[in-house]
Amino acid sequence: MKDLIAPHGGILVNRILQGEDRERELAKAAGYPKIQLDAWALSDLELIGIGAFSPLQGFMGKQDYDSVLERMRLADGQVWSLPVTLPITAEQSKSIRIGEKAALVGDDNVTYGVMEVIEIFRYDKQWEAENVYRTTELEHPGVKKLFLRAPLYAAGPIWGLNRKIPDAFTQYYADPAETRVLFRAKGWNTVVGFQTRNPVHRAHEYIQKCALEVVDGLFLNPLVGETKSDDIPADVRMRSYQALLENYYPKERVSLKVFPAAMRYAGPREAVFHAIVRKNYGCTHFIVGRDHAGVGSYYGTYDAQLIFREFSADELGIQPLFFEHSFYCAACGNMASAKTCPHDESKRLTLSGTKVREKLRKGETLPREFTRPEVAKILSEGLREKQLAGRE
Ligand code: ADX
Repeated sequence: MKDLIAPHGGILVNRILQGEDRERELAKAAGYPKIQLDAWALSDLELIGIGAFSPLQGFMGKQDYDSVLERMRLADGQVWSLPVTLPITAEQSKSIRIGEKAALVGDDNVTYGVMEVIEIFRYDKQWEAENVYRTTELEHPGVKKLFLRAPLYAAGPIWGLNRKIPDAFTQYYADPAETRVLFRAKGWNTVVGFQTRNPVHRAHEYIQKCALEVVDGLFLNPLVGETKSDDIPADVRMRSYQALLENYYPKERVSLKVFPAAMRYAGPREAVFHAIVRKNYGCTHFIVGRDHAGVGSYYGTYDAQLIFREFSADELGIQPLFFEHSFYCAACGNMASAKTCPHDESKRLTLSGTKVREKLRKGETLPREFTRPEVAKILSEGLREKQLAGRE
């Protein structure tokens, strides 16, 4: 068997302290100044700790940050397309000394990690938004979150001490070191990663299965960190993935594990980031379809594919697999894209996320050509539960 694909930068980072080292650091952390983390930073902390963000060892300093924004590379030249930063308030910064450690605390007051603070710097939100999101409009959910963040970034290497333990779907959590063992045990030489923040509809299934025709395994890796409030909640999605895999996928060729990251909605730049991170999980290939990680009409349909032209195959390491906008064509009687279907729009069934939510809210059934009935049922039930709980 061939060696698994190397992590980005060559070494899989592991900065999670365990056993006595952890106990010792936790005891010391009680005396450190505190930095309060939002949900986004908390998930970044965990992803750095487990090596999903290899080669990052901590939150970015100004040199890397500027370089990432300007040229989609870390200061040492390695490809990296999104800033991974830790916002702090001016008030918090007063208690922190450069060169010393700070405790990284959640809103539940748990110390999730510590950071050796190397640097604190002021950043320009406008500039970050223009570069990362290609817009400064506050309606963009990524820009909106950015503008709500504290005005300074604290940077330095981190160590993970505690992790958020999920209440449900625990078996779907696996660190990159574990997925690498898993892929090897399955005998997969080639693995295609699939990012999603949605239920898997027929178009998703179609492009996954097209990819699966040419690689050994599919790594279905739904993002379950913070998403915008009108995206379908992760617990409902998880149930829909289970039902789909149970009924329509060959078990021995698919692995379902979650990606506990926050969604940035940064379109093209996030597609590159998503690909690199999946390389760290052990994927050799990565699917990029239409408007990957996009929102509204901020990005062109294929911008997230075009951006890959800016990097050589060698420096990316993972191979992106591009797919055109796919749909069900009534005249073909199957799933297709403009590449494979000669019929006109009137025969093609496509529904936007907004349209899907609207149909569900009205109690309408999603057409089986769009979504498998098992998935449609779970989405309707999920929506009803949320409505009863007062979330919709
Ligand atoms: S994303 O924000 O996580 O990218 P989504 O879950 O909708 O959103 O998409 C997951 C992947 O499937 C992305 O690569 C996206 O480009 C692709 N995709 C979604 N819908 C389609 C479609 N109809 N045709 C082709 N690719 C699609």
